Amino acid sequence: MVIQSAINYNVDIHILDPDPNTPCKDIAAKFVQGKLTDFDAVYNFGKDCDVITIEIEHVNTEALTQLEKEGKKVFPQPHIIKLIQDKREQKQFYLKNNISTAEFILTDSKAEVQRHLDFLPAVNKLGKEGYDGRGVQVILDEADMQKAFEAPSLLEKLVDFEKEIAVIVARNERGEMTAFPPVECVFHPVANLVEFLFSPAEISGSISAQAIETAQSVIQKLDMVGLLAVEMFVTREGKILVNEIAPRPHNSGHHTIEANFTSQFEQHLRSVMNMPLGDTGIRSAAAMVNLLGEDGYTGEAMVEGLDEALSEKGIYIHLYGKKITKPFRKMGHVTILEEDIEELKNKAKKYKDRIKIKA
Ligand SMILES: Nc1ncnc2c1ncn2[C@@H]1O[C@H](COP(=O)(O)OP(=O)(O)O)[C@@H](O)[C@H]1O
Ligand SMILES: [Mg+2]
Repeated sequence: MVIQSAINYNVDIHILDPDPNTPCKDIAAKFVQGKLTDFDAVYNFGKDCDVITIEIEHVNTEALTQLEKEGKKVFPQPHIIKLIQDKREQKQFYLKNNISTAEFILTDSKAEVQRHLDFLPAVNKLGKEGYDGRGVQVILDEADMQKAFEAPSLLEKLVDFEKEIAVIVARNERGEMTAFPPVECVFHPVANLVEFLFSPAEISGSISAQAIETAQSVIQKLDMVGLLAVEMFVTREGKILVNEIAPRPHNSGHHTIEANFTSQFEQHLRSVMNMPLGDTGIRSAAAMVNLLGEDGYTGEAMVEGLDEALSEKGIYIHLYGKKITKPFRKMGHVTILEEDIEELKNKAKKYKDRIKIKA
């Protein structure tokens, strides 16, 4: 989706990806297959580029640092990617910088988690390499303790939140900054993935302003150039706690392609290329539904239920070109534009139930 934006500016995008059949390979100016965690693969790939950026933070930051030393523009800056790769470092960064976040303890083993019965209910999170809910375990009581991670992790107080929201901010080299209006994320109860997203979030003006201010303060304190998604909890007392951050286009910004004046993908490109940032204003209220691989189906992907959606006003289908579906794999998304909020919610539910990815 970043490439789709880049095409409009005659910018050539080269891609490094471990999957030889990565869907974007046919629209990239150049495609190199290689491991993102491998020093040589990343370094050799980056040597031919003018500006280097990422779409996944699990990448070899030593190679990126070397490229940066040799004068390449690497955004977000490698030391920031490194910090964000580790949820433990992220949390310590919030503490140091007075950014409100849920209380936590660092742990290194299951046995160590088990010693903190008095800290429950809590959430145990892997320090590194968790994503889309893999690497997060809710621990309510002693019985749940067996789910604890046998690895460097953190134990965080379970937040009884009212809503989960996200704000995507962008910053270019000149220090210009923008924020997309807060969105509301509704998570799948089992898969821990965003099931529905609504824009704008139904929150008060003052909470919205606080959320934007928080996200802007995070990107400024990081002194980061690029796009940063800031996931937050709104507590029942109306307080904002930062959950986690992602230094790239994010699931909570997919709707911006149709629903905002500038999409997050274009904003990402603009920020890392030091172009003027685009207007983030809302064109229409919107919902976004992830199209996840249906549970119980693995194999060549088939889409069910598209025809009805296509005949309805304001529905935009995005299929990612992944050949193989697996349970809960992100295969695409649907954006729905609708000003009437009740109707918007109905349509989101309706098309989530009707469009299925099976094998
Ligand atoms: N401290 C917490 N209290 C309550 N729910 C949480 C907490 N931390 C995470 N969660 C839930 O788990 C989801 C995934 O956690 P997160 O840290 O964002 O991991 P991931 O990297 O998988 O997105 C969150 O979006 C939220 O729904
Ligand atoms: Mg998350």
